[in-house]
Amino acid sequence: MLAEKYPREIQAIFAKYPVKRSAVMPLLYLAQREEGYIKKESMQEIADMLELDVTEVAAIVGFYTMYHDEKAGKYRMQVCTDLPCALRGADLFLESLCENLGIRVGETTPDGLITLEEVKCLGGCHRAPLFQIQESDTVTFHENMTVEKTMELVEALRKTVNT
Ligand code: FES
Repeated sequence: MLAEKYPREIQAIFAKYPVKRSAVMPLLYLAQREEGYIKKESMQEIADMLELDVTEVAAIVGFYTMYHDEKAGKYRMQVCTDLPCALRGADLFLESLCENLGIRVGETTPDGLITLEEVKCLGGCHRAPLFQIQESDTVTFHENMTVEKTMELVEALRKTVNT
């Protein structure tokens, strides 16, 4: 239970907002901190705390690419394939990345390192192909990428994890 685990953090979050429901996003972020995704029980608990319907909370989780409702690999690699990026080859880039990683979009590499996701505009349209990598609290952007550079990055991440 979040309330038992993080009483001070939750109190501090509530103190920042005049209306309870405004605290939904930081509370979701808090819930996601532990395992990299938000469990259904946590969504329910947050909904109860804020006097919201759980479907409203789930809709927020579903809308934003920074929130997740399923467990993933250590790194979430999120490739933008929105139209401007597609015009710069994002679809082919993603397809080739899938082949090189040996997984499909939405899947995780067998070693649990990378979960490959397809997302909408990340705000760097003219620098596609691009993706962001999420790992717990950090997000890094990688622009003007090639499959070769991406696979080098994956190997570097793999080494970091294995050392
Ligand atoms: S459309 Fe891909 S970053 Fe904007």
